[in-house]
Amino acid sequence: MLLEIRDLKVGYKVDGMLTEVVRGVDLEIRKGECVGLVGESGCGKTTVGLAITRLIPERKGKIISGRVLLEGRDLFGLDDEALRAVRGKRISYVFQEPFSSLNPVFTIYEQIKESLPEKKATDRAISEILKAVGLDEIAGRKKVYPHELSGGMQQRVMIAMAIASRPELLVLDEPTTALDVTVQKQILDLIMELKNKMDLSILFISHDLNMIFRAADRINVMYAGRIAEQGPKKDMVSKPLHPYTRGLIESIPCIGHRKKAFDAIEGRTPLFSDLPEGCKFHPRCRFRVEACMKEEPGLEQVSSGHTARCIRAKELLLNGAGKGR
Ligand SMILES: Nc1ncnc2c1ncn2[C@@H]1O[C@H](COP(=O)(O)OP(=O)(O)O)[C@@H](O)[C@H]1O
Ligand code: SF4
Ligand SMILES: [Mg+2]
Repeated sequence: MLLEIRDLKVGYKVDGMLTEVVRGVDLEIRKGECVGLVGESGCGKTTVGLAITRLIPERKGKIISGRVLLEGRDLFGLDDEALRAVRGKRISYVFQEPFSSLNPVFTIYEQIKESLPEKKATDRAISEILKAVGLDEIAGRKKVYPHELSGGMQQRVMIAMAIASRPELLVLDEPTTALDVTVQKQILDLIMELKNKMDLSILFISHDLNMIFRAADRINVMYAGRIAEQGPKKDMVSKPLHPYTRGLIESIPCIGHRKKAFDAIEGRTPLFSDLPEGCKFHPRCRFRVEACMKEEPGLEQVSSGHTARCIRAKELLLNGAGKGR
């Protein structure tokens, strides 16, 4: 196991009160695997990604409890210096907005150079890494600034900087969300190519289940700060267990069973300051029964490696409910 997140809880301070937004997340990433983390905006995905290397801004938030183990070593137990040796080196990040992540006053050459280990920062290495991310046209040029590049090219630069240190884990947080559809596909293809070539492990965070289905080997669906369902991609596609996952799938026009998309899940995600009793999805769930409103269900294994947080998961699977309705 490369990375294990165990019972992670993170909160943010709002009006002087700490509100828990990641409410006990368990997640595992094996070597060479791309693990997807998907869910509607605001459910806590970015917070999970940031917490891995303790990147939660201290004044605004707090890691309440939990453990993050990198090859068995607890990252929350490291001092700041030891953590800096991991962050950006063994674990690298790529975020949604490439332009705001790049420094506008430095050249691409200088910024890539900075992200390479000092001894390895030769002109040749910089040129090679630019070629590896498909930026052959600027590979030999030293005076190119971020604003001269398109959004897609900027994101390629961010990916180049993230892989420069030869990390073991890449955390990609909505890496294609800010880009045009055609460019999204090119960036996704690049990520998949690099994953195979470099044997990278990836945590792929996105609100877009379609993107996650394309990228991930294993998928975690998140709802209201917890994992609602987790399993191998093929099982999640062919027999989704949680009503929320089913709703997300039905919202994808090409995979969904209904012609009309986007209304498969009615209602809105609840506020963390005002979560419903029992199953947090119950106000929106079309399979809700009385018992759903009493206690929040635990994550239970339904088939090998496939778990769901729903008291009716097994029964609904057996009945084939939600399929072709
Ligand atoms: N810096 C912050 N201060 C206060 N609340 C925050 C902060 N960042 C995120 N939140 C809140 O935490 C919740 C989870 O946010 P986030 O992890 O960004 O979700 P996602 O990435 O799934 O959209 C949201 O309700 C969001 O409003
Ligand atoms: S526990 Fe009940 S309300 Fe929650 S997802 Fe399952 S059926 Fe729906
Ligand atoms: Mg986010």
